[in-house]
Amino acid sequence: MAAAPVHVRHDDIFVGFKPIDDLHKEFQAILDALNDPREGDYGEDLLALHEHLLRHCGLEEQWMLQENYEHYARHKRAHERLLESISDIRRRFDGGDVDAVRRYCADLMNWFAIHAQEEDAPLAEWLKGTPPR
Ligand SMILES: [Fe+2]
Ligand SMILES: [Fe+2]
Repeated sequence: MAAAPVHVRHDDIFVGFKPIDDLHKEFQAILDALNDPREGDYGEDLLALHEHLLRHCGLEEQWMLQENYEHYARHKRAHERLLESISDIRRRFDGGDVDAVRRYCADLMNWFAIHAQEEDAPLAEWLKGTPPR
């Protein structure tokens, strides 16, 4: 019997700022496809995830620079680690390691939920002009 799709902690990825939440919805949809047990084409969906993450991180970084965000460097470093991890997993997929892809996709939402709470949520408050708590 096929395993149930893995949908983890989705509410934690929304930060109350539409431009970021729209990106997070897109991320969720791509990851859901990758975690679907009927997933037929990891190669294509991993490419879609990689393209999405490049745009997603790039836009957040653009907003940080535009608004002179105080934690730009820290947040950008977190994005760089994420982008390195997707490059790495695509290389492993090309090498035939489908189990590594499955594990990566199963864990990614947990990582992302933490990133959303620790990095994207404070950025959202900054972009909305809310004073720091
Ligand atoms: Fe984000
Ligand atoms: Fe981010």
